[in-house]
Amino acid sequence: MSKKNNEILLEVKNLKKYFPVRKGFFGGQTQYVQAVDDVSFFIRKGETLGLVGESGCGKSTTGRTIIRLYNPTAGEVIFGGAEIGHMKENDLHPFRKKMQMIFQDPYASLNSRMTVGDIIGEALDIHNLATGKERLEIIHELLHKVGLNPDHAVRYPHEFSGGQRQRIGIARSLAVRPEFIICDEPISALDVSIQAQVVNMLEDLQSELGLTYLFIAHDLSMVRHISDRVGVMYLGKLVELADSEELYKNPVHPYTQALLSSIPIPDPDVSKANQRILLEGDVPSPLNPPSGCRFRTRCKYAMPKCAEAMPEMKDVGGGHMAACHLL
Ligand SMILES: Nc1ncnc2c1ncn2[C@@H]1O[C@H](COP(=O)(O)OP(=O)(O)OP(=O)(O)O)[C@@H](O)[C@H]1O
Ligand code: SF4
Ligand SMILES: [Mg+2]
Repeated sequence: MSKKNNEILLEVKNLKKYFPVRKGFFGGQTQYVQAVDDVSFFIRKGETLGLVGESGCGKSTTGRTIIRLYNPTAGEVIFGGAEIGHMKENDLHPFRKKMQMIFQDPYASLNSRMTVGDIIGEALDIHNLATGKERLEIIHELLHKVGLNPDHAVRYPHEFSGGQRQRIGIARSLAVRPEFIICDEPISALDVSIQAQVVNMLEDLQSELGLTYLFIAHDLSMVRHISDRVGVMYLGKLVELADSEELYKNPVHPYTQALLSSIPIPDPDVSKANQRILLEGDVPSPLNPPSGCRFRTRCKYAMPKCAEAMPEMKDVGGGHMAACHLL
């Protein structure tokens, strides 16, 4: 794919987000949920980085911290060369327009009492982008861009299907002409038949508008097609990151291998031959993660060293990064 160039739009360095929680009946003791713990990666302009991992591993928290819905506990978020992770709200204002997020549940994220036109128009109003006739024209153009029609502007969200609502959410996020969009499981709640349509539309919009995406999903099969590179998270840590095809063909981290082997293969002959490495045991609590490698309690290769030292991310060749003592 030629859509990427070498300019880096976003860089995340040693990002941490810990949530304080009070423990005990009187709430005297504070513990911390280590939702994101020392995560680093970059995204090139025009590129899609997929982010996958089981529920609770910190994908959404990573996204929300990048766009400053949360303040980072530590680390840096560098967007277009500016460190925004610790920027004051006033200085952040121009960046809020450049970074948007679309969510898994389009219905919950759309105000049910507003018409579609007002939902999209509100985004224009917040940033003083257009008024009057021009505002209406932009709303109609955005509806057209996401495969809806201008008549839909006067209707309410409940009058639409799930896929159409997601299109409305996308139109709203496009209204401010963003450069970067975090797609947080935007297709997980949709019918399988609709998922491909929405993914194709996101890809078309990306090439038309030069957008950069962070695309979050549970499942590696969902991000394979849309992502240039994919990062795998486990319990607050990034454990592997590689070009999309490389990651599927040559996963080197035991967790990625287990995740990939749990994807059902459509061809039954291949499926029989494929030895499934199923993930056993529950994910440990991020309040009290295992010492050393966080995956060690479920890893079939775990050795004494894995409990003693946290494996660092290292390049196993051509920018394929992974964190495991076996490498
Ligand atoms: N506001 C919060 N306060 C306290 N803990 C939180 C908060 N938000 C998230 N967490 C915890 O942080 C961890 C990471 O959550 P997060 O929502 O980022 O995971 P996720 O990978 O997006 O999961 P899912 O696939 O279910 O969406 C979880 O243990 C979660 O319970
Ligand atoms: S560091 Fe050890 S426990 Fe962790 S993935 Fe590698 S082998 Fe398994
Ligand atoms: Mg999430």
